[in-house]
Parts: sequence; structure tokens; C-alpha cells
Amino acid sequence: MLPPNDQRRLVKAALAARKRAVAPYSRFRVGAALLTRKGEIIGGANVESASYGLTCCAERVALFKALTEGQKDFIAVAVVANGAVSPCGACRQLLIEYAPKAEVFVADPATPKDIRRFTVTELLPAAFSDFKRE
Ligand code: THU
Repeated sequence: MLPPNDQRRLVKAALAARKRAVAPYSRFRVGAALLTRKGEIIGGANVESASYGLTCCAERVALFKALTEGQKDFIAVAVVANGAVSPCGACRQLLIEYAPKAEVFVADPATPKDIRRFTVTELLPAAFSDFKRE
């Protein structure tokens, strides 16, 4: 388990990322921060579109940023939003594919020291993750 100090540091990075959320439609700002085994932190925030379905969650923005910068081997991800929400189904799918071993920490910006922990497998049991071509 990630030591509490590192958990708090990652939550702080997610809080900083959340400030850059582009959420004019929902006004629901979400920040995420991924931690790699080498100790790199990559942040992301939700970005919304007038065509609502094109919106991308903070977790996926962080993941896509990290992956396309050559980062992998993620050991943790923090997600911060009002109500300490946990990742949506789409993000859970991407997390199980690209960050299956990551611990998931969620917190509310008003009480950032109160951190809940999940594993990705807890969030998405019996996941679809691999297939054989015919
Ligand atoms: N959102 C996230 O960024 N992450 C989640 O895990 C849940 C939802 C965003 C998408 C949208 O911009 C706003 O929150 C409201 O759904």
C-alpha cells in the first residue's frame, strides 16, 4: 500500500490538476493524478464539449497524457471531486487495461486528508481485458 504521505502528495497533485478542469456545462470539476513506479506524477482534469458526449473525464485525460508521453507502470491514481466520487465505468475499463495494478485513491477537495482506497479490480471485477482474434 502507498504510504500515507505519498497518498496525500498524490491527492494534492490531483487537486492542482482539478484547477485546470474545463467544465462549463456540468460545473463539476474533477482532478486526477497518476503516479508511476519511477515516482513521476502526471495530472489531468475533465474537459467538456458542447456536444456533451465528447466530454473526457479527468482520469482518462491523465491516462492519455501519460501514455502518450511514454509513461507506463502506474502504481497509483488519485481522483478528487466533490463527493469523493470514484471513476466512471469507462475510466475503470481504461484503468484495468493500462493501470491494472494501480491503487485508486479518492478524496473530496473539502476534506483532502480523508482518502478512500480501492484496487482497480475491486472497481471492475470480471473485466473484459483481452481477446483472441478468430
Ligand atoms: N467526470 C470525471 O472527470 N471523472 C469521473 O470519474 C466522473 C465524471 C466528469 C465528466 C464530466 O465532465 C463531469 O464530471 C460530470 O459528469
